[in-house]
Formats: sequence, C-alpha cells, structure tokens
Amino acid sequence: MSRRRQIYEGKAKILYEGPEPGTLIQYFKDDATAFNAQKKGTISGKGVLNNRISEHVFTLLGNIGVPTHFIRRLNMREQLIRQVEIIPIEVVVRNVAAGSLTKRLGIEEGTQLPRTIIEYYYKDDALGDPMIADEHIACFGWASQEEMHDIADMAIRVNDFMCGLFAGIGIRLVDFKLEFGRLWDNDFSRVILADEISPDGCRLWDMVSGEKLDKDRFRLDLGGEVEAYQEIARRLGLLPEGDTTILDLEKHRKRRGK
Ligand code: TMP
Repeated sequence: MSRRRQIYEGKAKILYEGPEPGTLIQYFKDDATAFNAQKKGTISGKGVLNNRISEHVFTLLGNIGVPTHFIRRLNMREQLIRQVEIIPIEVVVRNVAAGSLTKRLGIEEGTQLPRTIIEYYYKDDALGDPMIADEHIACFGWASQEEMHDIADMAIRVNDFMCGLFAGIGIRLVDFKLEFGRLWDNDFSRVILADEISPDGCRLWDMVSGEKLDKDRFRLDLGGEVEAYQEIARRLGLLPEGDTTILDLEKHRKRRGK
C-alpha cells in the first residue's frame, strides 16, 4: 500500500487522505468487534466482501436519488468517497424484532413489527453509544430539525429500497444501521448517506430457513461468518455461483507479497 496520510482509524475501516481535496479513501479491514468492542476478532476476507457489497448498495441507492458519499471503488479493499462531517448519530431502522430491541423490551425475536421503527444512538464509544431521543439531538445541537427531517426521510427510502432488494434474493431485512454526514458548499451544507451498508451493520435472515447471514454470526459465536457474507455477495450477483475468486485473488496477491 502506498504511503499516505491516515485521517482516522475506526473499528472496521481506515480513512486516508484522498487524491483530490474533498475526497477520502475508505479502506475496509477484516477486524470485527461487537458489544462496543468488548468482543474482538478477525473475519478473514470480510473487508473485501463489505467493500463490494457497500459499493453495490450505495450505487443502487444513488441511482434512485439517495445522495451518498460513494464515488467509486478503487481496488479490493478501498473505495473513493466524498469527505463529509459525520453527524454523531447512528440511525437504526427496524422491521423485525431482534438484538437490543428484544432485550430491552422483551419482544420475541422474529416478531414482524406493525410499523417500521427508527431509533437514534449517540455515537460515543466511551459512553457505549447510548440510545437518544429527538429531544437530545435538538437540545445538544447534534443535528438541526431540518437535517433530522432529511435523515428520517432518507432512512425510510433506504429501508423501502433495501427491503425489496433483499426480498428479491430471498432475504429478510430485519434491521440495519445508517450514518449520515454533512457535505459543505461554502456556508451551506446538505446531508448525505455515509459510512457503509454491509452485513456488519444489517441483520439479514434467509427467508426460508431463518438462517442469520450477518455479523450476528460473530456476535453470537455461530461460526461461518465469511461464508454468510459471501452468500449475501453471491445472491446480490457480486460473486458468480460457487465462485470465491475475489477472496482467492487477494490470498494469491498476499502470497506474492503484493
Ligand atoms: P441492535 O439490535 O444491537 O441495537 O442493532 C441494530 C442494528 O444496528 C443491527 O443491524 C446491527 C447494527 N449495529 C451497528 O451497525 N453498530 C452498532 O454499534 C450497533 C449497536 C448496531
């Protein structure tokens, strides 16, 4: 990898300075964490798969008019993105009860929710990303009312689109997390979709078997993490039937020391 300035390192990604002002390079690691990094591990090949899956979903969302930070994929693990000011809120969209919703409210896992729920969490690792209400966001000025309106609107559009996308490949979109950023143009800013959309931040269940094909395999020690991510990529048409070439290719390059 060429030497360049690292801007930020997160749990699953690294951001480097991009080739032009206003751009960054987003590098996808194989590192996986859960429960606010209390559990740590590596899922070999995950970064390559998430780079491809996120590219695909962001491209499709761009095509239906949802603005995103994605510009283009550069290589197996990197994509060029627009630099944004990340809004410190994790937006969780839920269609089916799972994860913290089942724990907090005692709703049985798998219950289809009568309406989609949007939840907000304050992005702060030291505090363990606490759940917040609109009132906190307004009170502490994390985002304006107008920005929150745009965020909720985009979250619903993303959900509607992704529910259809995944239903078409036999997958139930249970829930997912989104992050948004501000793109500045002189004194004006607009909100666009940032971060990534991949099995790291979505719950994806096989519609027939109910099998979990996402990071819950890691969180719950179910095993078969990379196979699950590969299955998502394969069904999205990103990996031809039974083909693991993108992962093999990378292994091959590593063996040659490239
Ligand atoms: P939860 O049920 O643990 O609140 O998670 C809801 C969704 O958000 C699930 O698809 C996983 C995703 N998520 C993240 O991407 N990052 C996080 O830090 C958390 C807590 C959840």
